[in-house]
Amino acid sequence: MYTFKIIRARHFWFLLSAFIATSAFAGEGMWLPFLLKSLNETEMKSMGMKMNAEDIYSVNQGSLKDAVVHFGGFCTAEVISDQGLILTNHHCGYSSIQSHSTLEKNYLKNGFWAPNHEAEIPNPGLFATFIIRIEDVTDQVLEGVKTDMEVKEKQTLIDANLNLIKSTTTKEQWQDVMIKPFFEANQYYMFVTETYNDVRYVGSPPESIGKFGADTDNWVWPRHTGDFSVFRIYAGPDNRPAAYSPDNKPLIPRHFFPISLDGVAEGDFTLVFGFPGKTNEYLPSYAVDQIANVIDPERIEIRNISLGIMDKHMRSEPDARLAYAVKYAGLANSWKKWIGEAQGLKTYHAVQKKKNLELDFIDELQRKKSLCKEYGEILPSMKRLYKEIEPVVKNRTILSEVIGGSNIELFRLTLYADRLVNAFKQNGEDGFQKMATRTLAQLDDFYKDYRKDVDKEIFVALISHLSVTVSPEYLPAYLAKYKSDDLAEKIYSQSIWIFKEKFAESIQKGGASFSSLVNDDMAFQLFEELKEIMDSDLSPAYNVLNDSIQIQQKSYMAALMAVYPDRRFWPDANNTMRFTYGQVEPYTPRDGVEYKTQTYLDGVMEKYKPGDYEFDVDPRLISLYENKDYGQYGENGKMPVCFIASNHTTGGNSGSPAIDAYGNLIGINFDRVWEGTMSDLFYDKSICRNIMVDVRYILFIIDKFAGAGNLIEEMKLVHPKS
Ligand code: ARG
Ligand code: ASP
Repeated sequence: MYTFKIIRARHFWFLLSAFIATSAFAGEGMWLPFLLKSLNETEMKSMGMKMNAEDIYSVNQGSLKDAVVHFGGFCTAEVISDQGLILTNHHCGYSSIQSHSTLEKNYLKNGFWAPNHEAEIPNPGLFATFIIRIEDVTDQVLEGVKTDMEVKEKQTLIDANLNLIKSTTTKEQWQDVMIKPFFEANQYYMFVTETYNDVRYVGSPPESIGKFGADTDNWVWPRHTGDFSVFRIYAGPDNRPAAYSPDNKPLIPRHFFPISLDGVAEGDFTLVFGFPGKTNEYLPSYAVDQIANVIDPERIEIRNISLGIMDKHMRSEPDARLAYAVKYAGLANSWKKWIGEAQGLKTYHAVQKKKNLELDFIDELQRKKSLCKEYGEILPSMKRLYKEIEPVVKNRTILSEVIGGSNIELFRLTLYADRLVNAFKQNGEDGFQKMATRTLAQLDDFYKDYRKDVDKEIFVALISHLSVTVSPEYLPAYLAKYKSDDLAEKIYSQSIWIFKEKFAESIQKGGASFSSLVNDDMAFQLFEELKEIMDSDLSPAYNVLNDSIQIQQKSYMAALMAVYPDRRFWPDANNTMRFTYGQVEPYTPRDGVEYKTQTYLDGVMEKYKPGDYEFDVDPRLISLYENKDYGQYGENGKMPVCFIASNHTTGGNSGSPAIDAYGNLIGINFDRVWEGTMSDLFYDKSICRNIMVDVRYILFIIDKFAGAGNLIEEMKLVHPKS
């Protein structure tokens, strides 16, 4: 909700009615915990929250923030016992679960539950980060910086200031300091953190529960997915972060979430706490237009092709299914989101609404003459710059999707080779050997899940696509010489990297002979040509224009804050700890349709398709359903599964705790509704909803389905409503 102090008469009634309409459910915003007291507490209480700001964020006593961790740097997890037990999404634990799975011991398919601590499985590389405290350090970072300084001079001074703050901040020796720019680098905040590197896999339900509905249901409400997995944080003997050791002990946390068995009702207050990755809420209309009409459509088309081919193989070949599960899920997730985003931006007239906001901004500037001088040129410049950058963006989007290595996997290998050749060029045999060690380790992972026939089919299709969509001046000479299937025939039968042993052997020959070998290789030559186009033509053109856009965007942010001094601004998500609050609310996706807030196990059974890889249901779950054997977790003879609310979330918020008015866990966040996926660019509170798994479903699956009652015993179950 926006609040204005100066309200002009002609806008008064409009604003007043908007205020009344929106004050019942403020939803927009990913707020910073350390500013909660000053910016949000009053509103949160008016929406039903029974806690105080200090219960949520405090540096002096255990508070909710001490039970929320950044999971592996890409998701969120929460502590749910005094023995370091943490809960996150199934899709967040997915690659760990997959890495421990084989066709014989398939934890993705069948699930897994460690019967005791000894059986919990370590995950090298996986970490969990706690936030100890957050401070505004803008003044120190910008100390001595003058507006008329050269960019370079400014940056050197800022870097020196950052180093000074980092080295003088009070912290324990096992803690880290991170300083990040906010509001387009108009402000800087510091985070003191504690990272634990021994995080073990405790359990997860079978995919038929944890990923029920898979990609068909992804980004869609109503939803019936039990998207959760369980891990545990281990600490050294002093309870501090320690590298993995069998002697480590379960972490004793500063706080853990009690779990509510009372469920939610429409209108209930909800708080979601986590690490949202990236939003772009303050872009001008021209940028949003470009995303909806150029960038999203290009990316969608390319992935239509690669995903179609993967899907065909996965449906009929079990080994392709296991090998491509993680890759497919990753590619499909953004692909489907872009489709929803582009559609939502159009349906809900985001560009026009942004334009209206810009008109109001210009109007305000005209009344505030001094600001007009400083900021009056921003929007016209942005308009010109976005027009100029459009063709570059289009070609760059296509090329980077094709050569990035996620669609055509061969290009991941050529990228490894490119890295090795460069290491040799720059640092001789020594440099080559260092890179070789790293690469040889990555090759194991790569080839474990590589299928040459699938990759070749994708290569043919995408190289043909590239030839007809990219402007001729950005096409490699190679493609004029060969048709894509002839090229594929040659490359996929000859190239050294198609076979792991061949590739590994050539690396072992040392830098000089490796370099000459790959330089003669067709796949490498094609990749180098494409990369050269990217590095020498497209990227420089893009960077020049984009740098200018960034400078304008920074001024635009500052201008918005200056022009509307009484509006509460929240900074775009940037992978730092945030909270968002809303209420359990239904929504109307289109005329005549209203979506309810809660789903039940009955819905799982409605969607059940025996043998289908997305909608199969485990016989044990069917029998629990038929006997209504829900234990203490059911509600009026039904088993709740998922619910929605109006919390503003984004990628990275997956696994975030959904918390009730009193600070108890009621669910875990995992997705957003289809109509509202545009919320990263434009939040519309009438249709943007986040989706959570009901915590009672999680407990039911752990206890009644999996029989892992030992875990339930560690938790604290409460009844806040009775
Ligand atoms: N859409 C959710 C998010 O962005 C869930 C993704 C995982 N599920 C899947 N079917 N790929 O991460
Ligand atoms: N599913 C997302 C995640 O993994 C959350 C979202 O984008 O709503 O973080």
